[in-house]
Amino acid sequence: MSNDQNDAIKSILEENRVFNPPREAAERLGGAWIDSMESYQEMWRRSVDEPERFWETEAKEHLHWFKPFEQVLSWNPPDARWFEGGLTNACHTCVDRQVEEGHGDEVAIIWEGEPVSDGAPEIRRLTYADLQRETARVANALESLGVGRGDIVTIYMGMVPEVAIAMLACARIGAAHSVIFGGFSASAIVDRVRDADSRVILTCDGSWRRGSIVPLKASVDEACQELPGVTSVVTLRRCLNDIEMVDGRDHDWHELVSRQSDDRPCEPMDSEALLFLLYTSGSTGKPKGIVHTTAGYCLHASVTARNTFNLRPDRGQVYWCTADVGWITGHSYIVYGVLPNRVPTVMYEGAPNFPAEDRFWSMVERHRVTQFYTAPTAIRAFMKWGDEHPAGHDLSSLMVLGTVGEPINPEAWMWYHRVIGGERCPIVDTWWQTETGGHMITPQPCATPTVPGSCTLPTLGIDAAVVDDDGNELPHGTGGLLVIRKPWPSMLRGIHGDRDRFIETYWSRIPGMYTAGDAASRDDRGYFWILGRIDDVINVSGHRLGTAEVESALVSHVHVVEAAVVGFPHDIKGTGIAAFVTLGPRAEASDGLKKTLHTHVGKEIGAIAKPDMIRFTHALPKTRSGKIMRRLLRDIAAGRESTQDTTTLEDLTVLAKLREEDE
Ligand code: WT7
Repeated sequence: MSNDQNDAIKSILEENRVFNPPREAAERLGGAWIDSMESYQEMWRRSVDEPERFWETEAKEHLHWFKPFEQVLSWNPPDARWFEGGLTNACHTCVDRQVEEGHGDEVAIIWEGEPVSDGAPEIRRLTYADLQRETARVANALESLGVGRGDIVTIYMGMVPEVAIAMLACARIGAAHSVIFGGFSASAIVDRVRDADSRVILTCDGSWRRGSIVPLKASVDEACQELPGVTSVVTLRRCLNDIEMVDGRDHDWHELVSRQSDDRPCEPMDSEALLFLLYTSGSTGKPKGIVHTTAGYCLHASVTARNTFNLRPDRGQVYWCTADVGWITGHSYIVYGVLPNRVPTVMYEGAPNFPAEDRFWSMVERHRVTQFYTAPTAIRAFMKWGDEHPAGHDLSSLMVLGTVGEPINPEAWMWYHRVIGGERCPIVDTWWQTETGGHMITPQPCATPTVPGSCTLPTLGIDAAVVDDDGNELPHGTGGLLVIRKPWPSMLRGIHGDRDRFIETYWSRIPGMYTAGDAASRDDRGYFWILGRIDDVINVSGHRLGTAEVESALVSHVHVVEAAVVGFPHDIKGTGIAAFVTLGPRAEASDGLKKTLHTHVGKEIGAIAKPDMIRFTHALPKTRSGKIMRRLLRDIAAGRESTQDTTTLEDLTVLAKLREEDE
């Protein structure tokens, strides 16, 4: 444990504010799936004592099976296969099933565009029948381009309903998707398309963000110069900005899709068929393509969406998750987990402060949102913008508030509870990861008493624990590794094309247990508290970045010889990015060069990776064996005295210099 983590444990143990689930919560929600702590505890105990029986019942109830499965689980650590022998389809579970059961004319997606003219934004409502027709058309369009079962289609689009349609259309025909967040740069597209070996890319001309157009198609064009394997690019017109169309390769979405038949049944797929890859950051520079498969992923996403937000159809609920579909939160809790629950899912195209800082609250009011899910970084920004923005709107429809992506500081939690939730909405602080596919540790809104800053207890079927390096469970109040001891249906099946890295990253530390990469501790109640990452991954505004990724972006600049990147505490972002850079002989340390490097990182990765602080140094502090002393840099970036032992530092003057530059 680092010093800050030990300090964190001390303050956790002092936190004594407990909020019982408001009594009227269950009533307002039209009944609770899990209605008391006793029933949660009883259900959870049974679910981990007899996991196969538990998951079997869930899978039969929640998924549509073209052919029933024969075996619940085969587990040869680290390889799990769930529901083998069964045939199902993710698009069917989300869309066709609802239509077949007579709900075709109910609203599935409520979409709101960013631009506001004459005080009103553009709103589109798509029913399940619309989704069935549109996913069938896009599925046929994909097939006309030669896409078939098992192919991986890259999707690089803004937040428009068509991005969800594109994902579901892939699932419909048994193709997999790889969605790339629209904020990533052309070179990030190159890495991901190459790794996935995609031949088809679906994109938009542009995407609205804070009143300007993000030129998505232009980035795809730039990327394609290095991607000879890409044979088709389909572009949805959204912003009507100028774009170039390449003959033979490029297609206009509407032209291509509108001439397709709207009949295309869902392909029955093996439970373990690849559903999607989603790239995320790790300890090395290369992003990893996390592998998720069909049945298990869909099951855990929809069961947790239902329980954590208490989604219930026919009760007038409207659910809104503010994430981008390009992250796992959007995959699981805008699309795959929500649609099967028959509660409309809101999609918003743009920024939270456009045209003004009350945009989210005006949307909550306009759509009568009942469940709202966002990130701590957003909550901290709302706090800073001022209480008058939420105060100007009627937020009385809200019933459950969720948070995800990073630890939430108690101040932000209390503000969310008081100002947004009017002290009547349970807060669900959900801990999980791209790799876990769905919620792992979270309160149940009508059952679990909450404590600001704790994600509380595991979801049904999840055996989470805090252990030492040998895998022994630690006593409460002690920090250790957060692990999951039993397999679960939506666990990652691998890293695309990199078996060794899969084993090394998640399974080598403690054989047979999934190591999450987070440090955690439990309090007297047994509640979990996340203390932060144990690897060189930082969490910037709820987005995961590898420090090595940012470092390799920096050293790819001609003037940079060496770079070390660390995180430091940041008021809004949670963690800011600090870069220590040594320059080549022909470069001059200047503010201009800082700006250049800043832009350069944006170009190499995307705006989210731009450093908040760049410091030039003549050398980086290293141990005698040549390892960069990152802890020391973290202390310097945070502006605190270091308790780090510097006896192994190769050159003490480096440290003195770095500190001087602090002044
Ligand atoms: C990492 C996973 C899961 C969707 C968004 C991020 C951190 C996530 C919490 C939380 C404390 C959290 C962890 C985790 N994290 N949720 N509620 N409390 N930390 O997904 O990009 O895969 O990042 O985010 O460090 O390992 P991701």
